[in-house]
Amino acid sequence: MMIGRTVARRAAPLGATTARGQRHYSFYPPPEPFSSQSTRASEPPTPPPPPPPSSLSTFGASPQLLSKFLARNPTGLTLRSLLSLGGEPGSPPPTEKLLRSARFTAHELPIRLARRVDQYRSLPFIVGSNPYIAKIARLYASSFDSLASLGEITSTAENEEFTRKLEEMVALHSENVPTLSRGFIECQKYMPSAAITHFLDGAIHSRIGIRLIAEQHLALTHAHATGSSTNAHSVGIIDTQVNAADLIDACAAFVGDLCESTLGIKPAMVLEGDRSATFVGVSSHLSYCMTELLKNSYRATVERHLRLYGSSSDRPLPPITISLALSPTHLSIRIRDQGGGIHPRNLPHIFNYTFTTAGSSGEDGEAGGMKEDDDEGGPYAMQQVGGVVGPGGQEGLGALSSGGDVGLSSGMGTLAGLGYGLPMSRIYAEHGRGSLDIVSLYGHGCDTFIKVRANPLDQQ
Ligand SMILES: Nc1ncnc2c1ncn2[C@@H]1O[C@H](COP(=O)(O)OP(=O)(O)OP(=O)(O)O)[C@@H](O)[C@H]1O
Ligand SMILES: [Mg+2]
Repeated sequence: MMIGRTVARRAAPLGATTARGQRHYSFYPPPEPFSSQSTRASEPPTPPPPPPPSSLSTFGASPQLLSKFLARNPTGLTLRSLLSLGGEPGSPPPTEKLLRSARFTAHELPIRLARRVDQYRSLPFIVGSNPYIAKIARLYASSFDSLASLGEITSTAENEEFTRKLEEMVALHSENVPTLSRGFIECQKYMPSAAITHFLDGAIHSRIGIRLIAEQHLALTHAHATGSSTNAHSVGIIDTQVNAADLIDACAAFVGDLCESTLGIKPAMVLEGDRSATFVGVSSHLSYCMTELLKNSYRATVERHLRLYGSSSDRPLPPITISLALSPTHLSIRIRDQGGGIHPRNLPHIFNYTFTTAGSSGEDGEAGGMKEDDDEGGPYAMQQVGGVVGPGGQEGLGALSSGGDVGLSSGMGTLAGLGYGLPMSRIYAEHGRGSLDIVSLYGHGCDTFIKVRANPLDQQ
């Protein structure tokens, strides 16, 4: 957090002079805080407050509205609170609950969107002016303006109007992550890698929350309109009985096909442990993580096998072994591969956005051509933007690799190449107050551990 702020403060204000010769506050980013300061009667009169920030510095959002919403705090988001707004699992929400959910959503989203806009304002001028990054900042600003100016929702007709805006917002923001990643690849020389990682961690964490709130309300509205919920145990997009083994099977089937179509062969997947284990949560979040982690394990296993034995060998590939364990508090998943592990020199970088070894010819899996002290990702990372979302994935990264010509790709999508899989999976895991860790046994393979809370309702 501090790194981003330090960088922001160093950005020089850009002054502009109006036609009448007055100094006009069109600098970026504006140095004045948005929130108004309270003054006591005994204090000497303070100088008049500076004019509100210019529309340039707010990416087009109304400065007055932004100032108002930045003074408010977002509500802590929990699955319990979302579930309480949604009615009984398996049943559509009653009208009264739907309208409560609408009011919560309409209250919460502008506060969170305002903070997004503010986060973009804190970027150094040259980074905030990058066309890709500015495009996303303007999208947040216009979504903020559109939702912040809404009145109270008191009827299903007003809710319909509101959900149309929400749908539009979700669609408009679907390409945010790949667009941002392009922008930050272009800006790598203007911002330290740690500051970019920090910014993107915050941006993606917040994006997950915004999408969760928006999609939950859209799903409830849909259930209310059709009279049926997604399945017998769901409340909106929250499933109270996600079967982890079924979810993992689906991800492994997808990744296996992707691996085979990209590299020609695929290892088997063995699932051991509690196949009946279920958890309460948003299944697409765990699907995203599992797909990304499996892509890494399948790729490492096949690449090592091809390196050691060549493509004509009929030696069997070592399987990927997934173990499932359910405790009273957590569902834990271990993914064990024999893909050779991660070179110790690369290990500190694997959670940096854009760090990838895809496309390297290094025998030990080092980022190709990467310098000893280079922490900006391999040269491949500088040039390529790809990635793919698996079953249930949400980030639209595949859009940039739809031609199948990026990173390690096939017509089905990209097995590796963007360097976003691990950092984003960790944000997803941590957003649900779980965790993601990797242990590398260099020369043999990796163990990746992902923990999700089994039943957040018991603990909040
Ligand atoms: N199980 C693994 N075995 C060996 N190396 C791994 C493993 N998991 C991750 N890595 C290393 O960490 C790097 C970063 O992984 P990450 O998933 O973030 O990006 P990527 O796979 O290169 O691209 P993508 O964004 O498409 O996932 C990989 O390029 C690889 O070098
Ligand atoms: Mg990956």
